[in-house]
Amino acid sequence: MLLDRVKPLDAILATAEKKSLHRSLGALQLTLFGIGCIIGTGIFVLTAAGAQKAGPGLMLAFIIAGAVCVVAALCYAEIAAMIPVAGSAYTYSYATMGEFLAWTVGWALVLEYAIAASAVSVGWSGYFSGTILQEFLGITLPPYLSAGPLALGGAPGGLINLPALVIALLVTWLLMIGTTESARVNAALVAIKLTALTLFMILTLPNADLAKFNPFLPAGVFGGFGTGVGAVGAAATIFFAYVGFDAVSTAAEETKNPQRNVPIGLIGSLLICTIIYILVAAGAVGSIGGQPIMGPNGVPFPAGSEELARQCAMPEYRDALVCSNEALAHVLRQIGYSSVGNLLGIAAFLALPSVILILLFGQTRIFFVMARDGLLPEKLSAVHPKWKTPYVVTAMTGAAVAVAAAFLPVGQLADIANAGTLYAFFMVAIAVMLLRKQAPDRQRSFRVPALAIIGPLTLAGCAFLFLNLPLAAMLVLPIWSVIGFLVYFGYSRR
Ligand code: ALA
Repeated sequence: MLLDRVKPLDAILATAEKKSLHRSLGALQLTLFGIGCIIGTGIFVLTAAGAQKAGPGLMLAFIIAGAVCVVAALCYAEIAAMIPVAGSAYTYSYATMGEFLAWTVGWALVLEYAIAASAVSVGWSGYFSGTILQEFLGITLPPYLSAGPLALGGAPGGLINLPALVIALLVTWLLMIGTTESARVNAALVAIKLTALTLFMILTLPNADLAKFNPFLPAGVFGGFGTGVGAVGAAATIFFAYVGFDAVSTAAEETKNPQRNVPIGLIGSLLICTIIYILVAAGAVGSIGGQPIMGPNGVPFPAGSEELARQCAMPEYRDALVCSNEALAHVLRQIGYSSVGNLLGIAAFLALPSVILILLFGQTRIFFVMARDGLLPEKLSAVHPKWKTPYVVTAMTGAAVAVAAAFLPVGQLADIANAGTLYAFFMVAIAVMLLRKQAPDRQRSFRVPALAIIGPLTLAGCAFLFLNLPLAAMLVLPIWSVIGFLVYFGYSRR
């Protein structure tokens, strides 16, 4: 009963045809768009949390998370090129698994996009407070204004993360009045990010000290399900650094020759970022070391925990990679390149808001498609007469994003976003395999090679990373789903 409300593929394609967006993006622009969505708080900030979980094994964590993303991206590529309409995983599930499962995916995507926007806001706040306020203006925000109650590495005593709150609201306002990022602005910001990371690699890698990589896996490869430590625990967290490549598929409706360009954009942007991440992690660890701060039982203190914040306040750990709120700028300052570190800080300060913008924009797009399908109240998708934007849903989403950013630490926000994202990826892989059965003859300009292997590998990889998230983050998904069921049966089903 529940699973039979499938939206036929042709109906989806026809709706999109009617309300279609202008097709203007090519392969290069799409790849740049992907890199613009991908590189953000993950590498600039969560490198510290990743090192606290895995030590130098962070490099391995980037490889593991990257590998899961590559197989997931192959699945995305096949289905996004086949169904090049807005709505991403939600739309694909609607076409193959029916309304109810599509609803759960759309609902989980809220975690992916909205909570990820909160996480990036908190990451931005670290660079704003450290580089702009402290380094340039000589202003130190008191802890109760610069960190939520449990922020990573912040001195104990955090109350509200004011900069994170403000940037989230500012971006929301920009979206409400109709700001979207032009391809040119995106290209400029991508260039800024790539330049900053390239400089980082040039300054750190040649002098990397091999001794700093020893022990390589201080917390082991596998710290145990739900503990969030070890190389796979770190992989589950820094998976966040790759989140966003699927946004390329949300732009499929606006892409020229999507059959060719979407796969190139997805896989190209992902591969470029994977290589950069591994090298940046090697540079960070090789220059100032990245050993975790161990608790009395020989297990790293949890990232974002109060105990870790207390340790980080002690003189011997103050300069540790794992304690920094602006990991990459901190590394450069520590090895004597303070001004380059500050430039990198400015790059993060300038570029991270665009990641927030893209994530929030993606969220409103998904809500828009869900409302178009009648699963959410039409009022939510009301368009402002002057601004021509879905201002109600944007304002509501933005307010929620800002509140989460104000009170939660970046690592925990990222973990929650990852839980939702992994669920969406899992469902996309199922959708691809189902579609091969349901519509074997439909034209596929991109076919996942050896889907019989890649498909199950994607499912296993997503499930594995999910189970290696900290328990609290894992639990958010079922709790969020229960709320979703109430909304679905209370409203959407009718
Ligand atoms: N991957 C994006 C980031 O790291 C969301 O900020």
